[in-house]
Amino acid sequence: MAEENGVIRVSISDVNSRGQGVAKVDGKVVFVPFSAAGDALDIRVTKEHKNFSEGEVVIMVEPSGDRIAPDCPMFGKCGGCSLRHVSYEAEGRIKKATVEGALRRFGLRDVTVNGTLLPRPERYRNKATLRIGDNGSFGYYEKSTNTLVQLGGTGCALLPEEFCEIARDAAAVVSRDGLRDVSVTLRRSADGEIIVLLTLGEAPGAAVEGDLVRAIAGGHENVTGIVVEIGRSRRERVIFGSGVMELRQFGLDLALSPRSFFQVNYEGAEMLLDVIDRYAGETGFSECADLFCGTGVWGLALAKRFPEKRFYGADIDRGAIRDAKENAARNGLRNVKFFAGDASRIPEGYAPDLVILDPPRKGCSDGMIGALTGIMPEDIIYVSCDPFTMARDAAKLTERGYVIKEVTPVNMFPRTEHMETVVLLSRK
Ligand SMILES: C[S@@+](CC[C@H](N)C(=O)[O-])C[C@H]1O[C@@H](n2cnc3c(N)ncnc32)[C@H](O)[C@@H]1O
Repeated sequence: MAEENGVIRVSISDVNSRGQGVAKVDGKVVFVPFSAAGDALDIRVTKEHKNFSEGEVVIMVEPSGDRIAPDCPMFGKCGGCSLRHVSYEAEGRIKKATVEGALRRFGLRDVTVNGTLLPRPERYRNKATLRIGDNGSFGYYEKSTNTLVQLGGTGCALLPEEFCEIARDAAAVVSRDGLRDVSVTLRRSADGEIIVLLTLGEAPGAAVEGDLVRAIAGGHENVTGIVVEIGRSRRERVIFGSGVMELRQFGLDLALSPRSFFQVNYEGAEMLLDVIDRYAGETGFSECADLFCGTGVWGLALAKRFPEKRFYGADIDRGAIRDAKENAARNGLRNVKFFAGDASRIPEGYAPDLVILDPPRKGCSDGMIGALTGIMPEDIIYVSCDPFTMARDAAKLTERGYVIKEVTPVNMFPRTEHMETVVLLSRK
């Protein structure tokens, strides 16, 4: 390996979903942020670890054909995106390879992974929380810190432009009226309506409240509601319009408050639901348990699409279950019931033939895997936001009587390291 003044020439063989290219120097793996497979680079090693090193690009010698010019000035600074320097098609390949790598790691070598489904990557997020800083600034907090990464003129390329315009107008009032500890959560419906939740360190006077309403609703006709919350009280007060957003999505009429959990990418979520729907349709199930159901979107949408089947949703979050029940009633769905509680505590005698699992990033506990193998449903549809824990849990299920039938990555979070994967497992 030619080395001069600590600069080493390498070629990048692979890229992980965090946008880190992989090169080898004297047999040891070096991760190089923001590189692309096929790049020839001069790099410098910045940190040595026992089994790998970290490096940085000094000179781009020959760029990979996957490279594109990043279309956001904040790329590499704000920490939100990891894949804005490669084409969107290459991103799909990288994410598919991430799933394949995770499966291999757990011994699942012969599984075929479908191509990644790719919703539009531009300004897709329908919800964001922005922090207001001093002197009219606003932006995100750097990961695990209180340092504000300010969003400049073009805002954040993941968000509707209007989110940053509203935050900018709110920040001007915050700065002028001396408010402290303010953040603004924005949620946009698929039709473009926006509701805004302002979290304030202390109660604003009536005059300041009026200023906020004028700046936010007066200047942005799509804003249909403004809600304030003081401190962490979680007590919300509507100061303009409606505090609930009406949303027509997945063939359902839904009502969302600013805080209730909902998929952040409408098009990506529709794609994901279509995969669940197709897998479910192939199984011929009659009773489905939607575990870790959150506000119940998968179960509700399937209950509408399969009116002759029965559904049961469970989630530990009582607020989410309240929303799920309200939305079931709103849509007149009588074939779905929701319960608040630990998903692994499946009631005695209950034996669904299809289980949908959508756990948090950490995946399923041993108790959850044990509960599943206690009832042995014919089919399991596993929706996962972490390929690593998905592969770990899928491997456990394959040791306990299941085979993996199909794996589909869905690029729910374009340009970032994150994604969803939908896996169909069936009894052998
Ligand atoms: C990835 S989210 C699923 C969201 C949901 N499927 C949706 O699309 O709206 C994971 C959910 O798991 C729930 N959860 C976490 N631990 C749980 C447990 N032990 N039992 C039941 N639900 C749990 C969380 O409250 C959260 O709603």
